[in-house]
Amino acid sequence: MSKKPFYITTPIYYPSGNPHIGHCYTTVACDSIARYKRMQGYDVMFLTGTDEHGLKIEQKAAEAGVSPKEYVDVIVEQFQKLWKYMNISYDRYIRTTDDYHVESVQKIFKELYDRGYIYKGEYSGKYCTPCESFWTDSQLDENGCCPECHRPVKFAKEEAYFFKMSPFAERIEKLLTETDYLRPKTRAQELVNNFIKPGLEDLCVSRTTFKWGVPVTFDEGHVVYVWIDALSNYITALGYLNDAHSDFEKFWPADVHMVAKDIMRFHAIIWPAMLMALELPLPKHLAVHGYITMQSKSGESVKMSKSLGNVVDPFILGERYGCDSIRYHILREMALGADSLFSNEIMMNRINSDLANGFGNLVSRTVAMADKYFGGTLPAEREAAAIDDDFRSVILGLLPEVDKYVDETKIKQALETIFEGVNRANKYIDETEPWKLGKDEAMKPRLAAVLYNLLEAIRITSALLAPFMPTTMPKVWEQIGASAEDVKYENLGRFDVLPADVTVHKGEILFPRIDVDKEIDELNAILTKNMEAAQAKLSAEEKGEESAAPIELAPEITIDDFAKVEIRVAKVISCEKVKKSDKLLCLQLDDGMGGRQVVSGIAQYYSPEDLIGKKLQLIANLKPVKLRGVDSNGMICAADTPDGIKVIFVDDSIPVGSKIR
Ligand code: MSP
Repeated sequence: MSKKPFYITTPIYYPSGNPHIGHCYTTVACDSIARYKRMQGYDVMFLTGTDEHGLKIEQKAAEAGVSPKEYVDVIVEQFQKLWKYMNISYDRYIRTTDDYHVESVQKIFKELYDRGYIYKGEYSGKYCTPCESFWTDSQLDENGCCPECHRPVKFAKEEAYFFKMSPFAERIEKLLTETDYLRPKTRAQELVNNFIKPGLEDLCVSRTTFKWGVPVTFDEGHVVYVWIDALSNYITALGYLNDAHSDFEKFWPADVHMVAKDIMRFHAIIWPAMLMALELPLPKHLAVHGYITMQSKSGESVKMSKSLGNVVDPFILGERYGCDSIRYHILREMALGADSLFSNEIMMNRINSDLANGFGNLVSRTVAMADKYFGGTLPAEREAAAIDDDFRSVILGLLPEVDKYVDETKIKQALETIFEGVNRANKYIDETEPWKLGKDEAMKPRLAAVLYNLLEAIRITSALLAPFMPTTMPKVWEQIGASAEDVKYENLGRFDVLPADVTVHKGEILFPRIDVDKEIDELNAILTKNMEAAQAKLSAEEKGEESAAPIELAPEITIDDFAKVEIRVAKVISCEKVKKSDKLLCLQLDDGMGGRQVVSGIAQYYSPEDLIGKKLQLIANLKPVKLRGVDSNGMICAADTPDGIKVIFVDDSIPVGSKIR
């Protein structure tokens, strides 16, 4: 019999900065569901990827002096490295720069145009450059700034294509209010009231102000605006209107799209409208979760985000506590729909209470007792007692409950349920007092029964936990002597699966207890240092200049490499601002070699008068470039400081043209 398909997706992430714990939630949650469904025997397609086009990327790449593709390639590698580190089992990774995706998006755009749902018009409104979004006045925040990033917006106007939303308003309202598409459903009314009732506005779906996007095939100069490009990924990755893949028939419609609340509107309204316009079936569920937040200095909970400079580095945490602890913590803390506060202390206490004391202790105590009293192999002769029935029925009750919660995308509850089983098992140890039974030879059959029941409970709970903590659970199976067959899904709803004479193997401590006070100090020091560096970088970026990143040396060079750079003393003869640029100054220098012109990005820190007559250091043998159309023959040396750029001036007594080494 062929397996039933199951298709689950994360959003595709902007590779505009390195990933952080905030990005991990959706991906780890989807991974857990994907693994659970695979365990249940489904044929799973788990898709994730990166959303690589748009103005922000184009700008960041230009600042870094590389092409947009070169820029995203580096960050995409970081995302993929993190997913590997977090043991994410995605089946497919889509990059919106992949040729097949670009081709499909062009066809989708044309198709929507041919069907009369896309038309050409003009857009004017308040535009937030960092968020690449136009906002209506009523959407702006209380200071008249962008409601997403709270930075100033500016009036902008451009010729653009629009997607007609109004024909779908009624169907979308029904989808949100009368079906269980949206999870949690409590959010449906807010969407209806804010966006549908006031009249669904047509969506601007092309841009002419930047180039880094999918070109509109039938109108040069227009690129497809990010949401049509981004949302389409869920179908192009399956091969919709392309030949790169051929799973569309099998996997569409998606079973679950999971997203955070900031992009709920796009997935709850625009995506269904696009699919309706293309006459495609709608996804079955949209699961919306809140943010992983951090406490700000003033005590409020704020979204963890790169642009707020308060990100937590998952590599650092993973290295200290193991990726499964991090996975468990973020999954266990976040209820679907609500925010969850991240703090080192909450995380460590959670790891200690649930993983070290709860589950880890259950495994180590049970295995140690089997080892101590029976040399590791349980005798087949066992004596049951009435108390076992209740224990067994609690453990057997876990599977249907966990199945239900996973199907409802309620991962926190699924984990809570499994831990009810773990706690019950620890209680069973207290109730049966195996250490007392072990002292009395006549009680050995009873002791064997108790330990066997415990091993069975560990078998079932660990198998249920495996989709959530996939790295550690195989180690548990090794310790309790369970085979791959024993932990299969079909064996989790019954007892007496382990062999009667099962042999255990004492192993490493699964979740070492954390010394919270000591760790908090150490971790806070690392994280604070990182956050300060991120914030310094951010404020430097806001000033439009290079970052004050933590000191990271470039690869070592030899003296011969260094000798290739000619640094000479030069004097500024005259200086003026470069037209149409806030950043650039054009300097005429006496370099002792007949003079030269250099353009430098220091206009925000120096006025021409500050420089004229001063001596400075010139990189004299740099290949000439044009900056804003002006020739620049070399570069002047300056330092990046937290207060901006500072030119390195040279003592007036040093003659012009002197070589610096
Ligand atoms: N590229 C779009 C999504 C397009 S999907 C067709 C995008 N990218 S993003 O990188 O900015 O964010 C991706 C997802 O990560 C969003 O759901 C976003 O809310 C989520 N998160 C980013 N920071 C987060 C937290 N601190 N907490 C939880 N999720 C967060 O939006």
